[in-house]
Amino acid sequence: MTNPITTLEEFTEELARIQRRADDIVPAAKSADAIELARVELLGRTSGALTALSTSLGILPKDDRRAAGQRFNTVRVAIESALEEARKQLSASSAQQLSDPTMPARMSWRGSRHPVSIVIDEIEAIFRELGFTVALGPEAEHEWYNFGALNFPADHPAMDMHDTLYLGEGRVLRTHTSPVQVRTMQAYAPPIRILAPGNVYRRDFFDATHAPVFSQLEGLAIDEGISFADLKATLSLFARRFYGPGTKTRFGPSYFPFTEPSAQMEVEVDLDDGKGPRWLEIMGCGLVHPAVLESAGLDSERYSGWAFGMGPGRIAMSRYGIPDIRLLYDSDVRFLEQLGAC
Ligand code: PHE
Repeated sequence: MTNPITTLEEFTEELARIQRRADDIVPAAKSADAIELARVELLGRTSGALTALSTSLGILPKDDRRAAGQRFNTVRVAIESALEEARKQLSASSAQQLSDPTMPARMSWRGSRHPVSIVIDEIEAIFRELGFTVALGPEAEHEWYNFGALNFPADHPAMDMHDTLYLGEGRVLRTHTSPVQVRTMQAYAPPIRILAPGNVYRRDFFDATHAPVFSQLEGLAIDEGISFADLKATLSLFARRFYGPGTKTRFGPSYFPFTEPSAQMEVEVDLDDGKGPRWLEIMGCGLVHPAVLESAGLDSERYSGWAFGMGPGRIAMSRYGIPDIRLLYDSDVRFLEQLGAC
């Protein structure tokens, strides 16, 4: 201090100066940094104005020290509470900013459902109303369930090493979900109505229209007296529920070793691509071959049934206009977001 303070008057004057300074800078401090700077200037332990003044308390005349101490304390308390008030106002105003209801919501990543899962869920919901339940089977399947029990002749091309992924010890990665038909018929007595979704595997190249792993959705209905009329009625109803009330369907001849007769069902859909409505094959189906009923242990004279198998991936591609099957496997968030599949 340039002029040492030696009288109560000088001391009081200096106190008043510090108080005025505090009145200037504390209310003007609008950030945590500014408040801290003001605190250091006024109360700081080494260079604060009040701290410096406190050293002169000791050199005042003895009789004045008590009064000086009291005034000193009054100012110190006033400055401390002014600083506290400034801190409170700051936090109140930042809390207000945070609760500004006009601010746009923060982006949050909610994830989204895969188009194939959406299609599977929708199809399951339609068939559930018709009394179907969901059944599952293993992806690493016995050759017998995948081929033998399904009436594949020993030289069928699907069983070729080039088409199927063999695991050894009589097991294959299932090439379709049809083995679940046999497993279900072995485990439950008719009437049976099941839907079996799951992944299947084929030795295919991964290109725009093929994937070595893809999903299938199998359906099976077994009871006494079931005919092709039941198959047509149920699957046509499904098509109208899935694609819209006026949807036309048609059945063409096909071949599978495990159904007789076998058919493929087509639906007429407009994909909204400007090319107009067209026929789209969406599934293979047919009456369950008696040999399959027998290999599952059912009396084929008493029971009959129908089955279908479809590819939810292909259905998703046509419905959402997805041009390349590989997009279904990329887990690319931008792709999922585009579909708005939430
Ligand atoms: N499993 C057949 C396939 O993979 C589809 C199908 C299932 C056909 C059930 C008829 C009955 O192509």
